[in-house]
Amino acid sequence: MGFRDINRLGTALLCVAIAVGASVLAARLLVPDTAPPHPAFAIAGLDDEAGPAEAATPAIPIADRLARASAAHGAELAAAQCGACHTLDRDGVAMVGPNLWGVAGAPVAAKPGYRYSDALRALGGRWTPARLDLWLTRPQAMAPGTRMGFAGLDDPKQRADLVAFLIGLAPEAAPPAAGAAPVAFQTLVDGADPKQGAAAAAAQCGACHGFDKGGAAMVGPNLYGVVGRGVAQAPDYAYSASLSAHRGVWTVTALGDWLANPRQFAPGTKMGFAGIADPGQRANIVAYLRTLAP
Ligand code: HEC
Ligand code: HEC
Repeated sequence: MGFRDINRLGTALLCVAIAVGASVLAARLLVPDTAPPHPAFAIAGLDDEAGPAEAATPAIPIADRLARASAAHGAELAAAQCGACHTLDRDGVAMVGPNLWGVAGAPVAAKPGYRYSDALRALGGRWTPARLDLWLTRPQAMAPGTRMGFAGLDDPKQRADLVAFLIGLAPEAAPPAAGAAPVAFQTLVDGADPKQGAAAAAAQCGACHGFDKGGAAMVGPNLYGVVGRGVAQAPDYAYSASLSAHRGVWTVTALGDWLANPRQFAPGTKMGFAGIADPGQRANIVAYLRTLAP
């Protein structure tokens, strides 16, 4: 290829580039690039309560994701991600957020004894699966100004697992299609072995906690009578600000969440203990703690 050919080729390429650029520009001007005013499809039957602000429709409808969801995995996620602010057991107390027992299908912002934000109360309607899915995606987008300080979960599978778990948190609810029915921690504790729990507590907690009635605080507070006691309420112990800020009562479920991962439960706690992953072992210890009462 001589110099002329190269020159011709260059000119040709330049012309093509200009032509393409011009046609893209023309296309942009002729066909404005805006989203359609209505979503192309909606979740039929599942959610007839959604208002216009709730029109964002996830790619795979929640009904389809629920069919493949794992409520058991949802229970783990809930303990880790929601347990710091919500109790999940029947008749659990309100903490930072309301108790979530039976919330699926219930009217929005209707738990007695909890003061909701105006933002959440203004939402109205019920917690259908589709709305729970939307809420867990981005609470602030669904109810701008809500007090739920939770950024949201981007993973549609995780949200479906959580919704399956929430659906299971109701006496009359059928277990979700393909997910295993959640075993409430309370049920585990009722069937647990306090003797094994005592041995485990001596080994794993005894360096920092006393368990005898009237015993002194050590590195951590004395744990006699802790089940049913207010969180951070032992009179002779200086708790971290993080645990003190935790209102509520040490229910069986709250203790299970705490022992699973203290720092998840109360970020900034000074309990230097990584947590016990196995729910059965936690249940034994909590069953033992429950015997430490008059
Ligand atoms: C940092 C604290 C916090 C975390 C973490 C949190 N929530 Fe909440 N949640 C709240 C608060 C506070 C409210 C009440 C919001 C309001 O009134 O605006 C709430 C409200 C709710 C409601 C509405 C309840 C009703 O009665 O209408 C649901 C459902 C809910 N949360 C589910 C969850 C789930 C599931 C998770 C875990 C994935 C979670 N939340 C994590 C604080 C939290
Ligand atoms: C390395 C020391 C250490 C170990 C080990 C430890 N804890 Fe703690 N624990 C603490 C400290 C410190 C606190 C106070 C936390 C705070 O104020 O943030 C605490 C707080 C607690 C509380 C809250 C009590 C209250 O009055 O609110 C409970 C319940 C508890 N621990 C149970 C246990 C159990 C059960 C184990 C064993 C499985 C255990 N801890 C292991 C140091 C420890």
